[in-house]
Amino acid sequence: IEAYFQPKLLKGKKILITAGATLEMIDPVRAITNLSSGKMGYAIAQAAYEMGADVTLVSGATALNPPNGVRNISATSAATMYQNVMQNIASQDIFIGVAAVADYSPAQTQQQKIKKSEQSLSLELSRNKDIIAEVASLPSPPFCVGFAAETENLLEYAEAKRLKKKLPLIVANLTSDAMGNDNNKVFLLDSNGTHPLEQAAKIEIARSLLTHVASML
Ligand code: CTP
Ligand code: CA
Repeated sequence: IEAYFQPKLLKGKKILITAGATLEMIDPVRAITNLSSGKMGYAIAQAAYEMGADVTLVSGATALNPPNGVRNISATSAATMYQNVMQNIASQDIFIGVAAVADYSPAQTQQQKIKKSEQSLSLELSRNKDIIAEVASLPSPPFCVGFAAETENLLEYAEAKRLKKKLPLIVANLTSDAMGNDNNKVFLLDSNGTHPLEQAAKIEIARSLLTHVASML
C-alpha cells in the first residue's frame, strides 16, 4: 500500500544501480569478496521503481530476490560488473553505485583447485577498475551517487571520495550501522554540505535518498 502511494518523482527517469558484493575467483572453489548483503542496493532499486523510474539492477553476489519491476543483470566479478554497467550506461539519467566492489582480484585464476603444501602461501592481486569513477568521467555522465562504508573518520573519508571520484552526491555510513542490517544510519554529502538522515529501515533511507536525488536533478 505504502509502495503504491510513493510520489512518482522519478517518472521517465532511467536509473542503473549496482548492489551486493563481487566475488573474485582464486580457483574453482575459492574467492575473495567483501561483506555486503545487497539489502541497501535492492531497497534503492525497489524504491526507485515505486517512484516511477525505469530501473536496471546490476547485482553481484547476494542471497536476495530482485524486486518486482526491475531489470536484473547478475555480475559476479568486478570485471563482469564493470562490463555490464558500461554496456547499459549510455541512456541512463542516474547511476547509483551501492555494490561493494572488490578493489583487487587474483592476478591469475587457477583452473584447478590449489593443493595445500607449504606453511605459507602468497597470492598476487591486481587492482580492479573503479566503476563509479569511470562512469563519472564519461563525456556526459548520468547523475552519479556513490556510497562510502567506513570504519573510522566517516565524513572526512566520504567527502574525500566524493571529490576524488567527481560525484555530486555520496552516501556515508559506518560499516557497523550498515552491514547486514535491515536498518541504516546515513549522511548525504553534496556540495551544499552534510545532510544527516535519521536512523531508519533501508527502504525508508532509500526513499529519502531518491527524493534528495530528484531534487538535485
Ligand atoms: N566502487 C566502484 N568500483 C570499484 C570500487 C568502488 O564503483 N572498483 C564504488 C562503490 O560502489 C562505492 C564507491 O565506489 O559507490 C566507494 O567505494 P569504496 O570501496 O568505499 O571506495 P574506494 O574508492 O574503493 O576506497 P577504499 O576501499 O580504499 O576506502
Ligand atoms: Ca574499496
